Amino acid sequence: VSPAGLNGATDMARIAVINGHPTRGEDHFGHALAAAYGEGASAAGHEVRRITVADLDFPLLGSRREWENGPPPPPVAQAQEVIAWANHIVVVYPLWLGDLPAVLKGFLEQVFRPGFAFGQEGLPGGSKKKPLSGRSARIVVTMAMPALLYRWYFRAHSLKSLERNILAFAGIKPRRHTLIGSVDAISRRKRQRWLDKMRRLGRRAL
Ligand SMILES: Cc1cc2nc3c(=O)[nH]c(=O)nc-3n(C[C@H](O)[C@H](O)[C@H](O)COP(=O)(O)O)c2cc1C
Repeated sequence: VSPAGLNGATDMARIAVINGHPTRGEDHFGHALAAAYGEGASAAGHEVRRITVADLDFPLLGSRREWENGPPPPPVAQAQEVIAWANHIVVVYPLWLGDLPAVLKGFLEQVFRPGFAFGQEGLPGGSKKKPLSGRSARIVVTMAMPALLYRWYFRAHSLKSLERNILAFAGIKPRRHTLIGSVDAISRRKRQRWLDKMRRLGRRAL
């Protein structure tokens, strides 16, 4: 995270916490993890803005023309403002069918558009301009399988795809991640430890 102020006067970060859990109105570990990260960050004096994807009303992107020429629907434009404001971006989601939940992918397709996230010329890789460079990211993924299985047997394909095909293309680095496995089976105490870890990461804006 780069300093938020001038002349090193402050090293407080501006953090966008994106809760990508698709389920509204129910208790889910993903909601608690996103909240814990934000609490830790606020407690340490960082500025935090939250995006709860499940609360946003937006359509799926339907065409390249729409992607390139917009304008994005208002909730997407607001999310872009938050991401542009931030210098650190946190994304929390559950692994669904080995990948991002569709609503989060749909959100990212809407948000990461040419001009905003990629060079004006269009497609990722088509231009060297990286409008979102200078921002770092943390991705937090929960899953039913052991995290080691996802990492070594499944090669964490979907996580790598998010990191390389979306965040790296947009110039976001460093990109760190936390994989939380066996999440439906772990004890309350273990969950508590993960929440504590999120608060610690939030405090350090990492
Ligand atoms: C539609 C759906 C698909 C899922 N697919 C996977 C999967 O491919 N691999 C896996 O390990 N867990 C899978 N799970 C389990 C979720 O990842 C797990 O329940 C979730 O991370 C728990 O966190 P939560 O309490 O925040 O929902 C799936 C769950 C649902 C509802």
